[in-house]
Amino acid sequence: MDQINRELLNQLEKDLVPQINNVLKLELPNYVSDDRLSNSMSYSVNAGGKRLRPLLTLAILKTYNVNLTNEMIKLASAIELIHTYSLIHDDLPAMDNDDLRRGKPTNHKEFDEATAILAGDGLLTLAFEWVSESNIGNEKIVKLIKQLSKSSGSNGMVAGQSIDVNNSGKKLTKQELIKLHSLKTGELIRYSVMAGLIISEASDNEIKFMMKFADSFGLAFQIYDDILDVVSNEKDLGKPVNDDADKNTYVNLYGIKKSYELLDNTIKDGLDSLNELDIDTDLLKSFYSYFDLNGR
Ligand code: IPE
Ligand code: IPE
Ligand code: MG
Ligand code: MG
Ligand code: MG
Repeated sequence: MDQINRELLNQLEKDLVPQINNVLKLELPNYVSDDRLSNSMSYSVNAGGKRLRPLLTLAILKTYNVNLTNEMIKLASAIELIHTYSLIHDDLPAMDNDDLRRGKPTNHKEFDEATAILAGDGLLTLAFEWVSESNIGNEKIVKLIKQLSKSSGSNGMVAGQSIDVNNSGKKLTKQELIKLHSLKTGELIRYSVMAGLIISEASDNEIKFMMKFADSFGLAFQIYDDILDVVSNEKDLGKPVNDDADKNTYVNLYGIKKSYELLDNTIKDGLDSLNELDIDTDLLKSFYSYFDLNGR
């Protein structure tokens, strides 16, 4: 994978993750009137996380030379509110029933189930408020809200989670598994890329290949998450491992070796899509350095 320059992602993270964290930390309390709810929402949002989704939006904006003002950082961080809500609900006893997230007790363990459900509800709704408040013009705001609704809702991430929890113990086909992963994880990544393209006014041809990249990156991201469940450890991941025994994961359906092969192919698809574009996509390609393929 000699096309991937890890240093570009490292530098982007160094520049932008502190700014994303800062905006999330300072802005969130301004939007919550109840203290316990506010503490619970902030607890999970400020617990860390790679901030990969806002970074993807901001990387697209950088690719198109859009100025990364504080306003833009806040707009790009709205997806992190929805992502964090999805994790809080994913960890609930009725779903994956996990006790550790981002290296800390899960929201329902630190608070209680009702508060965790409400924190998720609050974060989901707040994301739309942040997008609606941005200064990019109403036409773009409506486009972003439409894409965010589709990606996070009942035809997007929520549908993926539904397929996931309702099929544990049953074996999905390859096509069904791709659909599950593309919905539950791919869709929020799809929004992150699309948001950058909408704000940057990318051409139809650019949108076509960038979205192919987004879709294959999203699928690769969940394949790798399935692999990490068996090859990584709780300390590095900040969440439990060996936790997916009765789940439809790539590792359970294909074994570890084949899962790495399918991950390789998916990465190659994404790089091929980016290579179709005339613009400089090195920064976007650098996102593939997230996948550690050497330790297999
Ligand atoms: C975890 O997402 C859930 C998946 C969709 C695989 P991340 O791996 O991005 O989690 P954080 O945000 O870094 O905690
Ligand atoms: C969750 O998938 C994807 C979401 C929409 C939250 P997982 O259940 O595999 O995520 P982790 O492994 O708990 O982070
Ligand atoms: Mg889950
Ligand atoms: Mg889970
Ligand atoms: Mg997982």
